Amino acid sequence: PRTTAPLATDALAGFGAQPAYDGPGAAELLAWVEEIAELTEPDRIHWVSGTPDEHDALIARMVADGTLIALDPQKRPNSYLARSHPGDVARLESRTFICSEDEEDAGPTNNWAAPDEMRRTIQPLFRGSMRGRTMFVVPFSMGKVGGPISQLGVQVTDSPYAVASIGLMTRVGEDVTRLIAEGTPWVRTVHSVGAPLAPGDADVAWPCNDEKYIVHFPDSLEVWSYGSGYGGNAILAKKCYALRIASVLGRDQGWLAEHMLLIRVIDPEGRAYQVAAAFPSACGKTNLAMLRPTIPGWRVETLGDDITWIRPGDDGRFHAINPEAGFFGVAPGTGESTNVTAVETLWGNVLFTNVALTDDGDVWWEGLTDEAPEHLVDWQGQDWTPDADRPAAHPNSRFTVSAAQAPSIADDWEEAVPLDAILFGGRRATNVPLVVEAFDWEHGVFLGSTISSERTAAAEGVVGELRRDPFAMMPFCGYNMADYFGHWLEMGGKAERLPRVFQVNWFRKGADGRFLWPGFGENSRVIDWIIRRLQGEAEAVDSPIGRLPVVDDLNLSGLDVPEEDLAELFDIDPDSWLAEAQLTEEFYDTFGERVPGALRAQLDALRDRVKTA
Ligand code: GDP
Ligand code: PGA
Ligand code: MN
Ligand code: MN
Repeated sequence: PRTTAPLATDALAGFGAQPAYDGPGAAELLAWVEEIAELTEPDRIHWVSGTPDEHDALIARMVADGTLIALDPQKRPNSYLARSHPGDVARLESRTFICSEDEEDAGPTNNWAAPDEMRRTIQPLFRGSMRGRTMFVVPFSMGKVGGPISQLGVQVTDSPYAVASIGLMTRVGEDVTRLIAEGTPWVRTVHSVGAPLAPGDADVAWPCNDEKYIVHFPDSLEVWSYGSGYGGNAILAKKCYALRIASVLGRDQGWLAEHMLLIRVIDPEGRAYQVAAAFPSACGKTNLAMLRPTIPGWRVETLGDDITWIRPGDDGRFHAINPEAGFFGVAPGTGESTNVTAVETLWGNVLFTNVALTDDGDVWWEGLTDEAPEHLVDWQGQDWTPDADRPAAHPNSRFTVSAAQAPSIADDWEEAVPLDAILFGGRRATNVPLVVEAFDWEHGVFLGSTISSERTAAAEGVVGELRRDPFAMMPFCGYNMADYFGHWLEMGGKAERLPRVFQVNWFRKGADGRFLWPGFGENSRVIDWIIRRLQGEAEAVDSPIGRLPVVDDLNLSGLDVPEEDLAELFDIDPDSWLAEAQLTEEFYDTFGERVPGALRAQLDALRDRVKTA
């Protein structure tokens, strides 16, 4: 029989009691939890209180049962390694569904099923799916608890790893439950790894199911995720809620939920500017969020690294917050020479997933140091030496850490900040220049809608294959993307002083396949130009695709980029751009009549400019 009492025999003894709150929302919350428990049949229900003691107990239990490996506390205090099932390493776009009433509302870029039909499909999967396990009830807030732009949710999950991750990535606690009890609206999210245990069954370190569903019901504001323990599929507050569901809320309520980092740039005179940037997964958001400028006098403070919510304010400007409380960052490529801020952030209190383990109880991944240790245990638990023909860490291995721990974090990172500029980017080996400024808001929306990027390991698919990823939101927009383009255009009428829009590309390659631009800290040179554009201090020249820097105006002092490479970084080849325009037209056509006329007009204008240049 199920009880709400915690197990007396493990580290979680003494935690998990149901909080006693009264109020109009309390009964509804209880009834929902009861309903999910009826369906999934867990052995126990644990109400997560969010205290540090409880987090520690949860970790202790996972170490005891083999879910986590404790790293050497002398090397990396309070830090742990999880190794996933080899087939559960990334987001699964092919298993992600937007189940709006009307198929047209999901649009051609999302998988769709009718809500009733999808409920009939997943109900049998969830029936009894938590048998033999504890169901955790995790109340969370996106944005600081009670904040003016914040949104609440509850995740029930049978994954302690998910509970610990949510604890790092969001604000979890009984003050959230209290707000819900008082009647504050909240979003219902249900997660099961889909691996029930029969009495006497031994558990595995990473339970999951071959069958996976990540399902969103935007009309009833619900998320149901089955079969995967991986971050983006299991931390439902993040991609599922703060992007897919929140984008729908934003459409209906006049704001934007975006796949963007958020930083404050401070120039040598001490003037501060807030910049948001949308790049697809594994295309440099966390790195830019932690940028350490190589040019003297400039500083960057981190506000967020993955998600930004933007609302028009009373002062005629857009205001932005990072709704998350932690970073779920790509480990490979993170090292002293690329992202020293991240390396410093990761000193302790980190939950690593799928990185390699060193012989002395620490972690390693490709790019952490120039040379690999002589021996490692790889992400799948196998012996590894540098002559192995496979990476030691999975290319999408991750760190999960509290945002407050970044040395670069802004003092006011939990508050909304006015937005000065928006950047769009992607991984483009060809065509797209290092930086280009939009002519105006409408042209900026056009640039966002045309973003394409080479696939990365952050989701399933062929790495390197070019695909459309407008606004870096292709996997995350909870409604028809053509309507989303229209919403962006409309947002342009909601502020007197709109952020200026730019497109950047750190990833252009030469014929020999090497990156033309050194990237990382050197990206501060591009940021410097962007900020001086805002100040009216830097020149630009009109090109067919937008405003380009006058090369002498880019601060390149002390940088060793050959003249030819620089020329190539800004080369605009008319034939390639006409081909690009053709692909954009074909992409727009997949949405039929729903694409805003203003964007079709932008495309025509681009073609005209390219032809007459
Ligand atoms: P996110 O997933 O968008 O947050 O991307 P990350 O910042 O985690 O970076 C993803 C990968 O791209 C990592 O391997 C980084 O080392 C690499 N990366 C980030 N910024 C740059 C850059 O400016 N140039 C190059 N060449 N690689 C970069
Ligand atoms: P990323 O976040 O954008 O930092 O890669 C995870 C994801 O988008 O899956
Ligand atoms: Mn992301
Ligand atoms: Mn990131």
